[in-house]
Amino acid sequence: MRTPLVAGNWKMHKTPSEARVWFNEFLDELGGVPPGVEVALLPSFPLLPVAAEELAGSGVAFGAQDVSAHDWGAFTGEVSAYQVADLGAKYAVVGHSERRKYWREGSGLVAEKAKRALEAGLVPILCVGEELEVRERGEAIPFVVGQLLDSLAGVEPPSPDRLVIAYEPVWAIGTGKTATPGDAEVMAEAIRSALAGRYGEAFAGEVRVLYGGSIKPANFAQILAGPNVDGGLVGGASLEVASFAELVRLAVGL
Ligand code: 13P
Repeated sequence: MRTPLVAGNWKMHKTPSEARVWFNEFLDELGGVPPGVEVALLPSFPLLPVAAEELAGSGVAFGAQDVSAHDWGAFTGEVSAYQVADLGAKYAVVGHSERRKYWREGSGLVAEKAKRALEAGLVPILCVGEELEVRERGEAIPFVVGQLLDSLAGVEPPSPDRLVIAYEPVWAIGTGKTATPGDAEVMAEAIRSALAGRYGEAFAGEVRVLYGGSIKPANFAQILAGPNVDGGLVGGASLEVASFAELVRLAVGL
């Protein structure tokens, strides 16, 4: 039984004071996390202590958008998974396509980040996804499966609830274009079968596979209808209280 996860990736938006107001409004609007769904917010680093304070006891989890591949040391500007975990965070995104693209993060580095996240007690939300030209060449599935397995090299989660995979087709992020529910399901199924090869059937059957890319209240229900899609990693629509709360309600009872 996989509990659906709705996670809001705020990217580089909001100040700590704006976040404080947002968290309070969101908790009021939601009136408690409904049973049968998990909710997480992934704000940028300076907002994490605010998330820790405001979300404490609410049942809403939080996490970081990235962590360093190093545990500690002379790495100016980096943030350790241990620093994030100490705040009470549950998750850390690794391998988001914006980091792969703008900072040239390769899957080997992403695997190191996933390992550090696990060692620190965090659950990595490991992102994979293809560019448009890869899809147009008909190579989306082998590309994404290859990226997934490379990004999991040496990554050994102790249990299936300690890993989340997010399929985010690059061409669907922030563009208003979404994968069709069928394409999202076909890819989620391919990801799950690659996970079965890597970790065994039973393990893969329990890992949550999210879809991300221009999720909105108007399209989320159809995307969630795929039996292998276990929730969403939401960018733009997580910035507004009303739309994010609506997405959470749509995932209830999945
Ligand atoms: P959008 O929902 O804004 O397309 O962003 C998706 C994303 O990158 C979430 O990590």
